[in-house]
Amino acid sequence: MGLSRPVGIVGTGSCVPERVLTNQDLEKMVDTSDEWITTRTGIKERRIADEETATSDLACGAAWRALESARIGADELDLIIVATVTPDMLFPATSCLVQARLGAARAAAFDLSAGCSGFVYALATGAGFIASGQYETVLVIGAETLSKITNWKDRSTCVLFGDAAGAAVLRPVPDGYGILSVVLGADGTGGEKLTLPGGGSRRPFRFERAETDEGSQYIHMCGPDVFKFAVRVVPQAAEEALVKAGLTAGDVQLLIPHQANIRIIDAAAERLGIAPDRVMVNVDRYGNTSAASIALALDEAVRAGRLRRDGVGVLVGFGAGLTWAAAALRWY
Ligand code: UT7
Repeated sequence: MGLSRPVGIVGTGSCVPERVLTNQDLEKMVDTSDEWITTRTGIKERRIADEETATSDLACGAAWRALESARIGADELDLIIVATVTPDMLFPATSCLVQARLGAARAAAFDLSAGCSGFVYALATGAGFIASGQYETVLVIGAETLSKITNWKDRSTCVLFGDAAGAAVLRPVPDGYGILSVVLGADGTGGEKLTLPGGGSRRPFRFERAETDEGSQYIHMCGPDVFKFAVRVVPQAAEEALVKAGLTAGDVQLLIPHQANIRIIDAAAERLGIAPDRVMVNVDRYGNTSAASIALALDEAVRAGRLRRDGVGVLVGFGAGLTWAAAALRWY
């Protein structure tokens, strides 16, 4: 059950800030330990953007590399979609900032907000535009600077997140290749489990309310509830994507899950019956980079030769919304 016109990823790229923040560094900032962070999450270090670096800067870095690997120019792009929960500002869209910087004069541009599922949502959306015949070449980017919305005094969240961007160029591909199936889902009733409550129309920032609003500018998460949700939906969504594509777990060359927590990744892989050597993991080096995470892991996997021509990859994510998303693809 593929797309009416096959669409695949023809180039990938990623970009992370230089600065590394280790668990040992965090031990000096909050009451935590390398041992707790490693055993509960699998994270050893993460990258943190400096004051001057915004999400669009990382997005552009990833975009250039994706265009280079696809061997196309920015002038060939018809559409740019940026998935993010940390846009440079509320508007204009970060995708428009990227469009300007790339010089992608012909491209339409919009942002998409689906939390950590954002990259797979963007991939599905971009592929739909090509499958329908409207566009030929779409750039999808997952990019975040979560460090900017992290409360560095809250040990239950500040150890988890990092900054990064990943990008993919989509184009028509020969029959049998590319995105074979897509599964998207949402359960808005669980939305309050993972939020950034302030700065929107419900609770706009007001200088005179700064004291009472303290904290509303940061990520709030009920970790254990999100954990249970993830352990349920990740294998379900991946399985559904495989079934839709007429495949089984045995066909999978590489599972590329959202990198939030090694325990969630291990539990999902075990439930699916996919051995660890067929699972992409880089959460130890980057932490949870939300919408960037799957795109970054995909780029690393492709460059390391772990997802190769004819190989089946399964991308699967979950996050704020609450949302989930999976895609099965045959690498072109
Ligand atoms: O991208 C999607 C977004 N989010 C996620 O994927 C997150 C999903 N959730 C998780 O990954 C896990 O729930 C966490 C890693 C966030 C937390 O792990 P947990 O095993 O669920 O721990 P917990 O929140 O139940 O906390 C256990 C204990 C608590 O102490 P008490 O109440 O048992 O005394 C916490 O206060 O660990 C304590 N704790 C910490 N201790 C040291 C919480 N954070 C820390 C910390 N260092 N950083």
